[in-house]
Amino acid sequence: MVKKMTIAIDGPSGSGKSTLGKALAQRLGLLYIDSGAVYRAIACKVIDSGASMEDRPAIIDAARKGNISLEGPPDRLTVLLDGRDVTQRIRLPDATSASSIVAAIPEVRDAVVEKLRRMSDAGAVVMDGRDIGTRVFPDARVKLFLDASLEARARRRSQEESERGRLVAIEEVEREIAERDSRDTGRAATPLVMASDAILIDTTELTVEALLEHALEIVERHG
Ligand code: CDP
Repeated sequence: MVKKMTIAIDGPSGSGKSTLGKALAQRLGLLYIDSGAVYRAIACKVIDSGASMEDRPAIIDAARKGNISLEGPPDRLTVLLDGRDVTQRIRLPDATSASSIVAAIPEVRDAVVEKLRRMSDAGAVVMDGRDIGTRVFPDARVKLFLDASLEARARRRSQEESERGRLVAIEEVEREIAERDSRDTGRAATPLVMASDAILIDTTELTVEALLEHALEIVERHG
């Protein structure tokens, strides 16, 4: 049997993972799975239950019991948490900050990896996150690792925030991203690292179109 196509995209915040993931999914007719949305949804479940971010048992329970699904086409992905639409909610600053706190807990990661693998049972996927090429799909056909300067990443994030109607100074976004980067690379449980067989793409100077073309060439070579 020919192994199904799986594209893993990892990298830090604002490196272009979700933009590329959605574009690749659309071009190649693959399912797009935003793994960060799952950690964000768990963070929301904890916050909305009133539990503290120090309450590990409550966080682990939320990760195990939370019913999270991603629905719709890549450009209009809807995130459902226990049947509630949390697509906008998970992008708010409290959920963003809490996502990397819950993601540092090994039991939470185990529960999420299981959910992600189940979500991709349906077919060929492109999945983006921090540990897709190292843990979720170590046998992925194509592994990309995107990176960019902190300044470029903060600029993009601040632009996205302003499109959502929130004006945040670049310096503040830089601080938030740097704090999350350090939690994501510094944790003991599957930290953010590039898989040894991943292909590194520095997106600092790349337009979205150039990034997509470059990634498509790589996918074609590995097809
Ligand atoms: O959108 P952004 O790239 O800023 O973050 P995200 O992909 O939505 O992920 C939010 C947080 O979830 C990250 O800062 C990580 O702490 C965590 N995460 C993870 O640990 N592993 C993944 N595969 C995906 C996200």
